[in-house]
Amino acid sequence: MDYLEIEGGSPLCGEVRIQGSKNAVLPILCAALQSPGVTVLENCPDISDVGAMLELLKGYGCRMRREGSRLVIDAGELHPGRASEAYAGTMRSSIMLLGSLLARFGEACLPYPGGCVIGERPIDLHLQALRQLGAELQEGPEGLRAVCAHPCGARICLPFPSVGATENVVLLAARAEGVTVLQNAAREPEIVELCRFLNCMGARIEGAGTGTIRIRGVERLHEARYRIMPDRIVAGTYMLLSAAAGGKVILKEVPLGQLRAVRQVLKQMGVRQESRGEELCLWCPGRSRGGFAVCTSPYPGFPTDLQSPLMAALCLADGESVIEERIFEARFKTAEELAKMGADIRIQGARAEICGVKKLLGCSLKAWELRGGAALCIAAAAAEGTSRIFQYHYIARGYENIIRDLKDMGVVVH
Ligand code: EPZ
Repeated sequence: MDYLEIEGGSPLCGEVRIQGSKNAVLPILCAALQSPGVTVLENCPDISDVGAMLELLKGYGCRMRREGSRLVIDAGELHPGRASEAYAGTMRSSIMLLGSLLARFGEACLPYPGGCVIGERPIDLHLQALRQLGAELQEGPEGLRAVCAHPCGARICLPFPSVGATENVVLLAARAEGVTVLQNAAREPEIVELCRFLNCMGARIEGAGTGTIRIRGVERLHEARYRIMPDRIVAGTYMLLSAAAGGKVILKEVPLGQLRAVRQVLKQMGVRQESRGEELCLWCPGRSRGGFAVCTSPYPGFPTDLQSPLMAALCLADGESVIEERIFEARFKTAEELAKMGADIRIQGARAEICGVKKLLGCSLKAWELRGGAALCIAAAAAEGTSRIFQYHYIARGYENIIRDLKDMGVVVH
């Protein structure tokens, strides 16, 4: 079934536990390639991007088994190889294998990464930084060929705090000779998680979460076990759902400290929030408020991954709001689908102007990428009537079971 059917109009009522983080577990799976033995990961989300990454790891000889939300990966007997095109081309995070393959084997042969329609997604920053660590990289029609027999620490300054490029540098520098100082590094919580995991394996990394990360390379890493943190983007999606659909919802295992920018926007929208430990209760008395501007920016700013969910929520908020998308150049495609429901959105380059309407009408919709698909679920839950969201597989890339979660929050889903 590649669609889900949502009957809109019921205010939220219920509670949901937030799954493990997609964007934390994917680079950590790449790091597990560098273990001499077994890695045990707890709280792993059962999403298709993780499934694809596990297929890629199998291509290098990794053996693995899933026990519920626990993943056990054995990287004891590996061989250089070539990641399968079928999987590497479906997602962006396959590029993070590059740093680990070079660290483990000194060579790598990798198809170009895939991703979604949100932008061109070049990898120039990755290649430029890895070359500074001593990698020789050729870009051919069939993908990347790389050799790095002896990675050496370097002082690297990223022109932009790219999440993936930061992760690739950390993955290779962890095993390079000497010290690497990475400046203008990405500060996302997923970077902190990757560095914490590598340090559990015996790496020596300091400064993760700041703009300067210092990595002292080590000869070898050892086995480790680790618990994946909750997914801040899934949590933020459901927080924005509460602004759109009304009612009251309790989110459990929410990484509150990572969602300050989102909580600030929800406060401006008039959403009440009460937190207790890792639980967050949200309710929105009456119609939510718009009439302000939000710019997406690198962490700790408002996350680009919640731009479409925010747009969906603002479609029903009172007033004219503006969203500036400053990270990706083509991340407004969801506006076309929201317009089918009666939303009033004007796009001008990187700027979206959303004029709140009194109601949205359910209809047939198409998800074109992961977070845009989640945004359509928000709009459909708040709309009058029934919506069918086709190409559901995009949503399943990052949401473990959005049907289960929506039902747990009181949304009528067939
Ligand atoms: C990660 O993508 C996330 N993906 C994205 O989440 C997220 O939107 C993004 O970071 C920004 O937070 C994963 O972690 C698997 P970037 P990544 O490198 O690493 C440009 C989701 O929905 N750039 O920080 O690809 C790039 O084009 C996904 O879960 C270059 O120009 O993001 C973009 O405009 C979507 N050259 C900007 O930098 C490069 O070599 C940010 O990209 C690399 C990036």
